[in-house]
Amino acid sequence: MSANLATVSYIGATILFILSLGGLSSPVSSRRGNLYGMIGMTIAVLATVFGPRVTMAGLPWIIGAMVVGGSIGLYAARTVQMTQMPELVALMHSLVGLAACLVGFANYIDPAAAAGLTEAEKHIHEIEIYIGIFIGAITFSGSIIAFGKLSGKIGGNPMLLPARHWLNLAGLLVVIYFGREFLHAASVAEGMTPLIVMTVVALLFGIHMVMAIGGADMPVVVSMLNSYSGWAAAATGFMLSNDLLIVTGALVGSSGAILSYIMCQAMNRHFISVIAGGFGTTSGATPVAGAQPAGEVAPILSAETAELLSEAKNVIIVPGYGMAVAQAQHTVYEITRHLREKGVNVRFGIHPVAGRMPGHMNVLLAEAKVPYDIVFEMDELNDDFPTTDVAIVIGANDIVNPAAQDDPASPIAGMPVLEVWKAKTSIVMKRSMASGYAGVDNPLFYKENNRMLFGDAKKMLDEVLVVLKT
Ligand code: TAP
Repeated sequence: MSANLATVSYIGATILFILSLGGLSSPVSSRRGNLYGMIGMTIAVLATVFGPRVTMAGLPWIIGAMVVGGSIGLYAARTVQMTQMPELVALMHSLVGLAACLVGFANYIDPAAAAGLTEAEKHIHEIEIYIGIFIGAITFSGSIIAFGKLSGKIGGNPMLLPARHWLNLAGLLVVIYFGREFLHAASVAEGMTPLIVMTVVALLFGIHMVMAIGGADMPVVVSMLNSYSGWAAAATGFMLSNDLLIVTGALVGSSGAILSYIMCQAMNRHFISVIAGGFGTTSGATPVAGAQPAGEVAPILSAETAELLSEAKNVIIVPGYGMAVAQAQHTVYEITRHLREKGVNVRFGIHPVAGRMPGHMNVLLAEAKVPYDIVFEMDELNDDFPTTDVAIVIGANDIVNPAAQDDPASPIAGMPVLEVWKAKTSIVMKRSMASGYAGVDNPLFYKENNRMLFGDAKKMLDEVLVVLKT
């Protein structure tokens, strides 16, 4: 492939990536967005592999690696459960970070990479390598820890080392000092030591940063690592002088940063303190049980739930992580369809951090073919609960916790929540009295107008549907 054709392909792929991001902004156009992304990536890979910078001798290696990597990816994508998706995404981010590190080291060792560069260009190239490896290493280790936390392999409690901000600052100074040593190194062998020291510090930095995050703040970390993976890819693009990688990385990095900002707002955290890594501590986010609400819970049966639903005029359904675990979305859709046919106004209230990844609930509801026009963001319908007859909470917990508003000592204090308790009756569907991801008790369960429908969400909803249909 000629250099010109490769450039044109890169521009085409860039446009497709931008269209893809635009498409992903709404559920209606998201399929199209995904398609654009897939076509763009295919063009990008083909233009790179068959482009002017790959020699014939290198082709078998690249194709071999692509077959192995592609097979692993295909297998993972086919076998992963929907509930394991957030962990898979975290793992993917870690691979981007690892790739940035490996490319950085390979680039530094490869004599051809710096051949023909002037002194100034060589320094710029080395700075690109240093920064690329730095971001890559943080992304790699941070994402591995996020994977551990999301999969429950590592506890959700924040690990708060004494003077942790000073430790971070000391780490940063070490990185700057060794950066200077690296740039002044007389040979590649001499530059290796500062590069390796910086990589180790960056790896520790990534571990420390994510370990310090409390359970409820994880959404911010997920989106921030998404952003970091983009910047790591962009840094790799600079190292390899690959324009497409720079643009693609910047697109991922900046969209991830915007998502982080949205997540910060949803969690009521400050973006700047998040960037500085100071989150998860300020509001006492130690996930111990919050204020223990007194009182008893009032259980309800599926038949009574069905009765309340069929008598209601306005119903709001609030799905959460438990709906994903139970895979109850299809039954939810059936119930919705049935109630709507009977003239009940059924709507869905989606919290920005419901589930375990951004858009988790929207994906599940779209999969079950729930019409988009009855799915609302939290802010769009939070004021409507007082005029709602039944608010039904399906496997959600933290996102409907009134302690976020009422208890300043709560680890989730200040987080906006769906005010289901303001409905005439709220029904919470879950298996036990266990707490949610943030590990705090939920006073909603003890409210007078609240009922608990205990059991697996799918099983309970199936029972409700049977009664509704009879
Ligand atoms: P959670 O607060 O985690 O509550 C989910 C509830 O579902 C649990 O209390 C659990 O109670 C119940 N459940 C689990 N399996 C169930 C099943 N098969 N049937 C019925 N119920 C089941 O979820 P949420 O309300 O969606 O809030 C999300 C939380 O995750 C927030 O704290 C958020 O910060 C955090 N988080 C979010 C993200 C993103 S980006 N969305 C990422 C990381 C963390 P039982 O065990 O009693 O059934």
